[in-house]
Amino acid sequence: MSAMPRRRFLAAATATLASSKALHRASAAPMPPVSELSGRAPLFVSTWPFGKPANERALLTIQSGGGALDAVEHGINLTEADPSNPSVGLAGIPNSEGVVQLDACIMSGPGHKAGAVAAVEGFRHPISIARRVMETTKHVFLVGEGAMEFARQHDFERGPKVSPGQREAWRKWKDAEARKARPKADKGHDTIAMVALMPDGNLYGGCSTSGRGYKLPGRVGDSPIIGSGLYVDNEVGAAGATGIGENVMRFCGSFLVVEFMRQGLHPQDACIEAIRRIARLDPQGFDLSINFVALDRKGRFGAAGTGSGFEYAVTSPDSSRVLQSPGLTSASTGPVGGNQK
Ligand code: GLY
Repeated sequence: MSAMPRRRFLAAATATLASSKALHRASAAPMPPVSELSGRAPLFVSTWPFGKPANERALLTIQSGGGALDAVEHGINLTEADPSNPSVGLAGIPNSEGVVQLDACIMSGPGHKAGAVAAVEGFRHPISIARRVMETTKHVFLVGEGAMEFARQHDFERGPKVSPGQREAWRKWKDAEARKARPKADKGHDTIAMVALMPDGNLYGGCSTSGRGYKLPGRVGDSPIIGSGLYVDNEVGAAGATGIGENVMRFCGSFLVVEFMRQGLHPQDACIEAIRRIARLDPQGFDLSINFVALDRKGRFGAAGTGSGFEYAVTSPDSSRVLQSPGLTSASTGPVGGNQK
């Protein structure tokens, strides 16, 4: 954790965490027309309703004198610390061995800088570790034991490798698997991806997840992969992804969204076009459970999902809202908190 005084951060975090719990159940405003999808910087766009308190925390960081990367980090820290979130942070669904392995990345438009970590166990804030990788090493991406040793050396906050509730659920899953009761190995999941535009026109982003539930140990999804779970191009815009990482990372999904914006598409149309392109190439067609959010340098934003019901949060000094995105099929995206099928 950086710049902002810790006491001020914790007070604000506690307040926004309370509203975060309510937002797991909040319903989104009706889908606005594309012409209304723009806002005033500092502007934050995040996946899912739980992105709203994260955005608000990020905006508060800016309004309290923090920098853009502080804002992205603090916003995502809030989601990572939410004990009721089963898909981001140490309250997330563990892997098939009962251990939560966290992935995260962060990007700064200025300098086109990036940092990422994957398969990190027992640390509360992978986004903060990713930022430290970006700011203090020659590298972009640390994984597994190397990332954890780095986090230990930098004294990052520790936590349990799995929460008691998730451990209990994992035991049941493991028992059912042993009895060949064919439990759903692919438990629902989702991710916070946040993209941000500052008043000076610079773009930033971050992404953090516990990844796919009951995944194989060492499995890494799209979220920490630059260009897949997140991409920021300071000349054009920024995009982030949520959903089944395997269906995003094979297509460099967030990079693709940004490239469509570079060709002149509105961010919402860029998200739709990226999903169409992926569905055209993939044998599964639209049955992919993937969603994108995007934001351009003009402050235009949008989102889209393969199924209906993907909601995203948009926060500026003027308003903070949860919006519906267009879905490319009528299939359900699943309950908030998971792209369950
Ligand atoms: N999108 C997060 C993951 O698949 O790990």
